[in-house]
Amino acid sequence: MSTPSPPIVAPSILSADFSRLAEELSIVDPAQDWLHCDVMDNHFVPNLTFGPIVVAAARKLTSACVDVHLMMERPWAMIDEFRKAGADVVTVHIEACPQTREVLRQVRATGAKAGLSLKPGTPFAAVAPYLPDLDLLLVMTVEPGFGGQAFMPEMLEKVRSAATGRTRLQLDFLIEVDGGIHEETARLARAAGADVFVAGNAIFRAAHPAQALASLRAAIAG
Ligand code: DX5
Ligand code: ZN
Repeated sequence: MSTPSPPIVAPSILSADFSRLAEELSIVDPAQDWLHCDVMDNHFVPNLTFGPIVVAAARKLTSACVDVHLMMERPWAMIDEFRKAGADVVTVHIEACPQTREVLRQVRATGAKAGLSLKPGTPFAAVAPYLPDLDLLLVMTVEPGFGGQAFMPEMLEKVRSAATGRTRLQLDFLIEVDGGIHEETARLARAAGADVFVAGNAIFRAAHPAQALASLRAAIAG
């Protein structure tokens, strides 16, 4: 699938009203945005959200790139299911994948783009060896589990390290930030080298979600 060129906003359906998902997702422009889906299993994180059925529903509602963030134990057991549900990008957590390289290979074998994420407590050095195997590095800027938390500015250092490593190794993976993103924090993350900006509350809990999305796009442009 073709994807818009960065910078890209990825509205997170975690903060959307699922009783009117079609209307909520209608603001997502496939030519500019991605759609971020947060899968949580109540083991890897202390919250439970949804699985492939809801991803498949989102897939039917938009032609935008569906960006699936797996906050779950044993993600390898479900990769095929999420790909069949329509995921374009599948991101797993390094903390949940002892056989990291193998899991990334498994994601790519399905035809999806392979993402790797790290929690705030995991140092950048833990993911550094895998940069050549990635389509996307997702830097968590809050503790994963819930929307609406405050951005952790100290995570920007990881974004900078990722951007530096990418240049030095001549790689082309995208750098995504997730958690507490609004206009101001998006600008900071953009300056640090981020390409994809996940936002839940800043969009879907705003009085005018379409306007909030437009403001975020404008904040990271240029
Ligand atoms: C948090 C999720 C995020 C969440 C972000 O664990 O991974 O994607 O939706 O929500 P906000 O933008 O409200 O911090
Ligand atoms: Zn997420």
